[in-house]
Amino acid sequence: MAKTNRNVRLSPDIKPLHYALTLKPDLESSLFEGEEIIHLFLAKPTKTITLHSKDLDIESVQVIVDKEGIFALKIKYDEKAETASFIFAKGIPKGEIRLKIIFRGVLNEKMRGFYRSSYVLDGKTRHIATTQFEAVDARRAFPCFDEPAIKATFDVSLIVPKASVAISNTVPTEITEYGSGHKVVKFARTPKMSTYLLAFIAGDFEHVEKRTKEGVLVRVFVTPGKKHQAKFALDCAVRSLSFYNKYFNIPYPLPVLDMIAIPDFAAGAMENWGAVTYRESALLLDPEHSSTSTKQRVAIVIAHELAHQWFGNLVTMEWWTHLWLNEGFASYIEYLAVDSLFPKWDMWTQFVYGDLGVALDLDALKNTHPIEVNVHHPDEINEIFDTVSYSKGASIIRMLAGYLGERDFRDGLRHYLKKHSYGNTSTVHLWEAFEKVSGKPVTRMMSGWTGRPGYPLLTVSESKNGLSIKQERFFSNPISKKLNGSERPWSIPLSVGKGAKAKVTKLLMEGRSISLPSALAVGNNSWFKVNVGESGFFRTSYPKRLQDALKDPIKNKQLGATDRLGLVRDIMAATEAGDVVTTDALEFAEHYKNETDYTVWAELASDLGRIKRLIAHEIFAEKYDRFALSVFAKIAKKVGWESRPGEGHTEILLRTMILMQYGAYGDPATIARARRMFSRIKPHDNPVHPDLRSVVYNIVAKYGKGKEYAKLTAMYKAATLHEEKNRIAGALGAFKDKAPLKKTLALSMSKDVRSQDTIGVIAGVWRNPLGADLAWEFVKKDWKKFLDRYGSGHDLSRLVGLAELFSSPKRAGEIRDFFKKNPAPSATRTVEQALEKIYSNAAWLARDKKKLATWLLDQ
Ligand code: BES
Ligand code: ZN
Repeated sequence: MAKTNRNVRLSPDIKPLHYALTLKPDLESSLFEGEEIIHLFLAKPTKTITLHSKDLDIESVQVIVDKEGIFALKIKYDEKAETASFIFAKGIPKGEIRLKIIFRGVLNEKMRGFYRSSYVLDGKTRHIATTQFEAVDARRAFPCFDEPAIKATFDVSLIVPKASVAISNTVPTEITEYGSGHKVVKFARTPKMSTYLLAFIAGDFEHVEKRTKEGVLVRVFVTPGKKHQAKFALDCAVRSLSFYNKYFNIPYPLPVLDMIAIPDFAAGAMENWGAVTYRESALLLDPEHSSTSTKQRVAIVIAHELAHQWFGNLVTMEWWTHLWLNEGFASYIEYLAVDSLFPKWDMWTQFVYGDLGVALDLDALKNTHPIEVNVHHPDEINEIFDTVSYSKGASIIRMLAGYLGERDFRDGLRHYLKKHSYGNTSTVHLWEAFEKVSGKPVTRMMSGWTGRPGYPLLTVSESKNGLSIKQERFFSNPISKKLNGSERPWSIPLSVGKGAKAKVTKLLMEGRSISLPSALAVGNNSWFKVNVGESGFFRTSYPKRLQDALKDPIKNKQLGATDRLGLVRDIMAATEAGDVVTTDALEFAEHYKNETDYTVWAELASDLGRIKRLIAHEIFAEKYDRFALSVFAKIAKKVGWESRPGEGHTEILLRTMILMQYGAYGDPATIARARRMFSRIKPHDNPVHPDLRSVVYNIVAKYGKGKEYAKLTAMYKAATLHEEKNRIAGALGAFKDKAPLKKTLALSMSKDVRSQDTIGVIAGVWRNPLGADLAWEFVKKDWKKFLDRYGSGHDLSRLVGLAELFSSPKRAGEIRDFFKKNPAPSATRTVEQALEKIYSNAAWLARDKKKLATWLLDQ
């Protein structure tokens, strides 16, 4: 990329050791003032000191050498590099010096750097000052050496109104009067840490607290009136913290762990060391109004952020190229922690759908990227907080854990964390730790998975001599397949299961192809499944005989849930890739009518939904709906609307999901019941169970008109629970008529929707095949506003990524032209991915449309 300046790293000759930093945010004027003294070590004499600074007004700079202060002659800003350089009249000698900087800035409304968040209490707007620094926005709050490997200690002081609560990474050690109704809150020194993990928060908060059995004080802070929603999060955090303490065998190093619910928050949550911030819907649980799926989400998010307290905070990636070490790992271990806290939630099966599934989808594109990717400019850095770093990262860690076994995996982690505590690492350091503990060739095996894009398709074939398997990169778009050729093969930990007792054989496949031992030959009454438990990061394709032999073990559940899920997923992917005709895949899906597992149904629903979207505008769309209803009929009858006493977590999730599908495909009884329930909702009295609300709202919207629209929007505006707002907003995109959909789009950018929620509302409309065109027109028209609001952040790619839902080449051309004229920094790769998807969708439809129409006639 031409725009990229590759020399973005600061000089290695200037090292900060310690910062003494004081900040005074003013919530009314939205300005802040700051003063800092940075203790620096200069490896050589210098006249210039360069550090990061963005949108800050630096008032004065002086170095103090041997108690003598020397002011900088000149301050030079480099906007592109986001740095400030201080130029001194004469050379500063090498060794330890102090740099004193006085600066000021604006508390912005963009949810990055030091920013202002608002909420309404008793009809009055109140403000909070808070921070979001990852990846490269600490430089917006104070001049600093803003790279993950430049670690230092911090003494933070916040000057805030006397009545406010001030929170930072550690505990307050001293509170003194400041005058004009203010106080100075001085915090204990932090451990040696990276700048992106600092947090400064001030506002009116209430909190609940509890100690872990190891003695760490855990507190959950909320805006006034929400304390009763914090209990679940508190318990989860206390238990997760103890879990990690034991699992990593390293005590959490701070005396306190604070978790703060922030009304305006760009991401889901942020792992600031000792002061973890969350958006409200990822932390709070209302005893009367929250759903089971929110509960699970809250547990997962907490487990994820607390894992970072070790993986990320204690041991940090050397540079953003290794971001996946943070995010991939936390996205794996969050399941381990939640599974240990809530063993009945069946988290690991859900992993196979959620993380493994989405990773296999994205990484099947030509426009994916290797897990380890060179990044320089902030836009490039923001761009890699994506499915590859998170979900592919988590999936290959899970594959490795399966290969090493639980104990070696855990011991390898312990070794790695101990060895690199308070330091920085790259990917290879993690492999070295596992290699040392296990004696297995981890570095050799894993380098292909992190260093190269994509993953293999394993094709099984049968001959007189028995079974063999070959590997080749999988592309979801048949056009990309031509790229296959000289790539090195992956090292694949392979497990194959055979027959009813599912005897599992493990191998390491290192070459392009292998012949399987003759003991694995498959007789007439047996079957054979590759990738038992879907533990590997690849797909599998079988010859027809072996594929057919798997139908019975799917029906009678001789195969486990993850295997049943993997089989239908791979067949569906093969249809998109042009290897299997869509109708054959649908016939295969029909063998799942007896299925009862929540996660397997989630996979089926998503597979059938993709085809539904593809053919939504075809004349046979209704026939497809009827087919889908026939697939769901049996399970819909089984789950019903009423909960049963003592039913499990996943049974509740299953009911919500199945009813949603059944209603969406048009079952009259389901629609009627949803309508009846909706009509009973009164302004301050919602009798619908939280687990059924999204079902009811969506179905009513889908088959509703102006009256339903008016009621839902009124409910949206009145809702105080963020989760409830999200549920309603989703339904506001489900209407069929243009008029309400246009209103929803307008609402998304109005003051009634928080900027953090806008993209979610637009996504609701875009995912509706009848709303996609409108949503795209809307985004195009207001593009400047979107760019201004979401700049180079993560949200912009979420928005742009929705374009993948289209399936016409003409639309693809238009989108390409649009982004040529209106570049979307930090979303350039997402645009390419979306275009690739559109062409792939178009080819898929063209290929199978006729056959599908004919086949549906016979159903
Ligand atoms: N470190 C991230 C937060 C983040 C995301 C910062 C993107 C900067 C850019 C945090 O640990 C995270 O991954 N949060 C997730 C939730 C998690 C459960 C996957 C999020 O915000 O979605
Ligand atoms: Zn994370």
